[in-house]
Amino acid sequence: MRAAFLGVALVSACCAIAAAHGPGSHATPPTREEIVAGDAARGAAAFEKVCSACHTIEKGARRRVGPNLFGVAGARIAQKEGYPYSEAFRKAEIVWDDETLAEFLAAPAEVVPGTKMDWAVRETQQIADIIAYLKLHR
Ligand code: HEC
Repeated sequence: MRAAFLGVALVSACCAIAAAHGPGSHATPPTREEIVAGDAARGAAAFEKVCSACHTIEKGARRRVGPNLFGVAGARIAQKEGYPYSEAFRKAEIVWDDETLAEFLAAPAEVVPGTKMDWAVRETQQIADIIAYLKLHR
């Protein structure tokens, strides 16, 4: 009886969290207009906070768990020499433009199933800001 009650409580807590992030559990990618309005300064702060654990971005900087991201905006996927990309990345045919970056950052495994990047950005605005920041580094 008690266990059943707990189960119900857990299920509703889970769904409340999922609902807060809209359908599915990830952010809606920003629209073209929202990306154009992205703020690179805010993007820099967000990058520092959420991406820099795994990525560097300055040209020639030593890579971390993920590839260095200098020049990634506008480039083809998986072009950093010597980086051990997943097979999924090596086989994918994507150009990292505004739209593909937005979709990837919102839900990496939906854009490249099998990717080792196990990290999604939860806020639409933050995705737009980070893209503006990536575009400053190319
Ligand atoms: C927990 C580590 C981790 C975090 C945090 C992370 N990434 Fe990644 N990222 C990776 C890995 C690993 C790859 C390589 C994926 C593969 O080979 O499947 C990658 C790949 C990428 C790529 C494609 C690079 C290429 O050469 O094609 C982009 C763009 C990218 N990440 C952007 C970001 C941004 C922006 C953030 C912050 C919002 C971020 N990542 C956060 C680990 C991470």
